[in-house]
Amino acid sequence: MGKLEGKIALITGGTSGIGLATAQQCVHEGAYVFITGRREPELAAAVKAIGSHVTGVQGDVANLGDLDRLFTQIKREKGRLDSVFANAGVATFAPFGEITEEHYDAIFNVHGSGEEASKPFWPPLPGRPPPAPPAGAARSKAQCGPERPGHAA
Ligand SMILES: NC(=O)c1ccc[n+]([C@@H]2O[C@H](COP(=O)([O-])OP(=O)(O)OC[C@H]3O[C@@H](n4cnc5c(N)ncnc54)[C@H](OP(=O)(O)O)[C@@H]3O)[C@@H](O)[C@H]2O)c1
Repeated sequence: MGKLEGKIALITGGTSGIGLATAQQCVHEGAYVFITGRREPELAAAVKAIGSHVTGVQGDVANLGDLDRLFTQIKREKGRLDSVFANAGVATFAPFGEITEEHYDAIFNVHGSGEEASKPFWPPLPGRPPPAPPAGAARSKAQCGPERPGHAA
């Protein structure tokens, strides 16, 4: 019996590199995985490479609408989520002095969104209220809380 038997895992950016290898290992250990990526052909190829116990969901983790759709699908199909690997990422570089707010936002919107968006799945801590809906997966998207009615815990 694998270490992850029966677990439901989400691996963002699961179509190549570290994410794909992690997804394959999770399935090998008995988990069912959801993987994401922006490019459809790469997503389809990754789903094929993993083989079974996998669903590919196309989307951009920096897009709150895509994240809503992703978590709604997981909730509908599996009812829960045991593990999130917020792996999707990009590295774009700029010299000191030439880093713009757009550049900063583009990087942090990708690298900071997964954990925030998965909060509706987190179990409440004993004696504490359930986690509030995300107050903003990134600072340029501060209005996202009220737009996420489907995720109230
Ligand atoms: N490799 C390294 O040496 C290294 C070092 C430090 C940190 N990291 C971090 O580790 C993670 C994985 O690295 P890797 O080398 O395995 O990367 P990779 O092979 O380039 O894979 C990146 C994955 O993320 C997806 N992705 C990128 N932007 C996305 C977005 N906005 N929304 C959804 N999916 C997105 C890509 O698919 P699409 O392009 O189709 O969306 C792909 O599946 C990244 O976060 C990276 O920054 C890597």
